[in-house]
Amino acid sequence: MKMPSFQAERVWLAPMSGSTDAAFRRQAVRYGAPAVVSEMVAGEALAAARPDVVRKTCRHEGRGLWIVQLAGRRPEDMRRGAELLVEAGVDVIDINMGCPSRQVTGGNSGSALMREPDLALQIIDATLEGAGGTPVTLKMRLGWDHDLLNAPEIARAAVDRGVEMLAVHGRTRCQFYKGQADWSAISDTVEAVDVPVIANGDIGSVDQVDAALAESRAYGVMLGRAAMGQPWLLGQVAAHLEGRDFVRPDLSAQADGLCEQIEDSLSLYGSWLGIRIVRKHIAAHVDKAELPLDEAERRAVRAQLCRLDDPAELIAQIQSLYLNSETKAAA
Ligand SMILES: Cc1cc2nc3c(=O)[nH]c(=O)nc-3n(C[C@H](O)[C@H](O)[C@H](O)COP(=O)(O)O)c2cc1C
Repeated sequence: MKMPSFQAERVWLAPMSGSTDAAFRRQAVRYGAPAVVSEMVAGEALAAARPDVVRKTCRHEGRGLWIVQLAGRRPEDMRRGAELLVEAGVDVIDINMGCPSRQVTGGNSGSALMREPDLALQIIDATLEGAGGTPVTLKMRLGWDHDLLNAPEIARAAVDRGVEMLAVHGRTRCQFYKGQADWSAISDTVEAVDVPVIANGDIGSVDQVDAALAESRAYGVMLGRAAMGQPWLLGQVAAHLEGRDFVRPDLSAQADGLCEQIEDSLSLYGSWLGIRIVRKHIAAHVDKAELPLDEAERRAVRAQLCRLDDPAELIAQIQSLYLNSETKAAA
């Protein structure tokens, strides 16, 4: 297998618009996530230096490569976007051909490009040109729909052009997020190329990591939604694959991490927006933490925390919720 010019990690945090900002990526890497990808940004928005876009691409605190995902459907925007990312010093540029959203910037970009393979290849060429030697990776789906499962062809052409690593979400564009990701279908792409392929879609536990790797024969895994509210999951998966022990953070460490993320979010976006953006993470933490609450209590706590506008009050309430839960659990 031809290994990329950068450290080929086997466990990746998936790019998620509105979620994988620098504040969340910092939490993932502090618990040992080997690779984390920014939210997607559009080439033309980067060129216009829109402040919201600059924030999305921000490097996270802590270790690991700075990987930024670029989206778009105009090759010249992708070229310019890649040039700007290189100027900013990013380590790896990831091309978005995986996101099914209808509003991916510039119209039908993201996984819609899989229906337009010629344009997809022009976009890859332009990104590689703009990157000028900075490594480029590609994230895609199995194809447009089940009649057009062309990930292997696009992957082969992309690798011939210089793309160094691939991630494949085991669904088609037309499936959006419905049904189950088909890990075994990813193996067609694994067989088609001689670079590492990362399997993605519905992987949420170490058992699922093992199953996804066995079925896809991929080199590694990429996890998205499952990491929301438990940013240590990537570190846990990495430890599992390397045969290392992993100590899950206890409730007080979880509270400290969440509060650090809230503070980072406030610094990144300012208080008003920062508190709103981080709410989905707070909700996911409350949903997934081992708090001694029944479902109704959990819903009430979640709603209560997500209503607070005062950061100091929010942090105090989170600390006391987690501390009380830990005390109860120890009693
Ligand atoms: C809220 C949300 C935002 C997403 N944004 C992006 C994105 O910016 N770029 C991208 O390639 N995929 C995006 N995706 C897709 C994920 O990267 C991933 O492929 C998908 O969620 C399947 O993985 P999972 O089952 O582990 O979540 C997004 C998914 C979600 C749920």
